[in-house]
Amino acid sequence: MQKKLWPAVAIAAAVSAAAHAELPTPGLDFAPLSTVLNAFASAAAHRRAETLVGKMTIDEKLQFIHSEYAMSAVPGGGAGYIQGVPRLGIPDLNMADSSTGSGSTSQASTTFPSTIGLAASWDPALAWNFGKQIAIELRQQGFGMGLGGGTNLAREPRGGRLFEYLGEDPVLAGEMLAERTDGTQSQKVIATIKHYMGNEQEHGRNGGNSQIDERTMRELYLLPFEIAARRAQPGSVMCSYNRVNGTYACENSHILNDVLKNDWKFQGQVQSDWGAAQSTAPAINAGLDEEEDVGSTVYLTPTLVKQAIANGSVSTARLNDMVERKLYVMIRTGVMDDPAKAGPINFAAANAFTQSAEEQSMVLLKNASNQLPLAAGALSRIAVIGGHADAAVLTGGGSGNTRDPVTGAFAGCGGLTFGTSTGCSWWTNPWLKLNTPLVSAIQSLAPQAKVTFSGNSDQQSPFAAYTQQQISDAATLAANSDVAIVVVAQPAGEDFGDLTSLALANPTNQDALVEAVAAANPHTIVVVESGNPVLMPWKDSVSAIVEAWYPGEGGGKAIANVLFGKVNPSGKLPVTFPVRDQDTPTWGTNGAFATNPVYTEKLDMGYRWYDSQNITPMFEFGYGLSYTHFAYSGLSVLHLPGNLIDVSFNVRNDGRVAGAEVPQVYLGVPYQGEPPRRLVGWDKVGLNPGESRRVHMIVTQRMQSVWDTTNSRWQYVPGSSVFVGASSRDIRLQGHS
Ligand code: NOJ
Repeated sequence: MQKKLWPAVAIAAAVSAAAHAELPTPGLDFAPLSTVLNAFASAAAHRRAETLVGKMTIDEKLQFIHSEYAMSAVPGGGAGYIQGVPRLGIPDLNMADSSTGSGSTSQASTTFPSTIGLAASWDPALAWNFGKQIAIELRQQGFGMGLGGGTNLAREPRGGRLFEYLGEDPVLAGEMLAERTDGTQSQKVIATIKHYMGNEQEHGRNGGNSQIDERTMRELYLLPFEIAARRAQPGSVMCSYNRVNGTYACENSHILNDVLKNDWKFQGQVQSDWGAAQSTAPAINAGLDEEEDVGSTVYLTPTLVKQAIANGSVSTARLNDMVERKLYVMIRTGVMDDPAKAGPINFAAANAFTQSAEEQSMVLLKNASNQLPLAAGALSRIAVIGGHADAAVLTGGGSGNTRDPVTGAFAGCGGLTFGTSTGCSWWTNPWLKLNTPLVSAIQSLAPQAKVTFSGNSDQQSPFAAYTQQQISDAATLAANSDVAIVVVAQPAGEDFGDLTSLALANPTNQDALVEAVAAANPHTIVVVESGNPVLMPWKDSVSAIVEAWYPGEGGGKAIANVLFGKVNPSGKLPVTFPVRDQDTPTWGTNGAFATNPVYTEKLDMGYRWYDSQNITPMFEFGYGLSYTHFAYSGLSVLHLPGNLIDVSFNVRNDGRVAGAEVPQVYLGVPYQGEPPRRLVGWDKVGLNPGESRRVHMIVTQRMQSVWDTTNSRWQYVPGSSVFVGASSRDIRLQGHS
């Protein structure tokens, strides 16, 4: 992805296959050098796996393709468990959810920021580290497999699980997923990527039929999986609960056999989402390799698979293939020879990482009259209002939740003492009690100021609406303060289902709170904790807005550091923030969710939709401000052999503080049905004031191609327009390829 090369080097890279291999690019076409080297290791792993399969009895093989325990009984609080074969030196394999940290239900874990925030960092190196840090903790808890690689695209901006994913662009999502996967597997933890595929909403998730044409699938919804599968070789792909074009994803031969295993040459295993398998022989023959058990009907049991083999509906060769895939993955990732063992966890180091990850993920959406950063010395009274900012931050609900904060045993709502338990089991628990909540973090950065909290009480249900008294107390406090920081929160998650609207809900009257505070104090700053885009009817009445996503356990300090300029924000939106629900591609006439969604907008999803429909969003994809300013100049678009394009330009920090910019390259591909712009590359460039850098991006042939439905192959389209911008709409330079 990073293209920090001089032009001559770039050209040499383009004509030399070996150099190609060393030149990471977004998307696909190049085989990274590591992949080439890995091919040798892979061949050896295959031979060893094959030999082991030859020594296994039928019963040993059968126990290897389904979870030994239903989810609630998995040792160590994991989600699934494959029993090993001690006589052959094959260890047991315990797996856990890991979207925002280990999802063990019985062990203390660190809560990382949500992965939509990770995508907002646009920093592949951070994604690698994120995968690595979570894997370190998983291993220390005894897990050899992490299920956290969620990457369904944000087609439905109200999607309950958006916080677990990586935004609306397939290349950004794919790139970040590939890096995260690599980071995880570097620690001898098998990485799963999910939910494959067409699982873009929670409505109808059990069997809902996502109807997506082939070109749209290939160019959008399959692409992040393809990038990650090809580039990072995750050990596992999890098939989803829904149907794709009429057939359950876990028995859909087209997406599993044709696309994943044949086209992409995926050598790992396909595991079902928990309870997503729907049959024995059809699923196995369509490509399902392992079934996970949620505690309901199971189909890949020894008895049923034995019967299927006996009646000829499943071949022994296919059973061997299923087992071999699993063994191969265990060998290649190191899990076979060095299985996870429980050990001491360095929570302090993990906590520091979560804070720095969050600092790179926050997006500054508005900063009128340079309201931010706050100058501590100039403030004597600071109001912090709402969002339980005196105690906690919001996290996402469901299996993407990290259930047991490191601060101690789980107690109701993340250790808070809310008066009612509404929404407060670990599964749906959206609140994470912090060691250093925002109020304390602000106080330590502004020691001379009086920092006062007002708003919802921890004794109240977390979803209870603010009372009139609470709103008027908050406004009075704001009126008597130099600055008012309002925290608003949008709970969402697997168990919440999808949101009905992007308007703030739970508490329902957060907009009224913001309006009242903004009316009382012209220096009102809103901090948003959400996993989804949020409507902001108060946008024009407040002076600054920061999107903090679900910020994880370092969130209090990280947010304070951004507000006070200890950290210059550098995040950019991985999802469009619309003005109104009605502007989103899936709203239709009344916002009703289809149980069987038809992807009628085709390629016009996310920013592609707003661009093609000429709808101005509130904040566009790729948008994010900084405390400094960056100037772009000197675009050059160079053709290289192999239909590569070298796009280069200068970025200069022409402001007064150091900062990092994310210059983005988009292509307008001149082909029927293509949207005005597609993202093909970006960089994250740290620059001191006055410093400038020449940025290079190599755009591969594949990134200039469309899916040719007639011939079922990628078709290169020459002559794309090239756009270089600070966002998908803030285009600073334009050229032609
Ligand atoms: C169901 C979820 O869809 C999936 O993402 C998760 O990994 C499993 N449950 C296990 O918790």
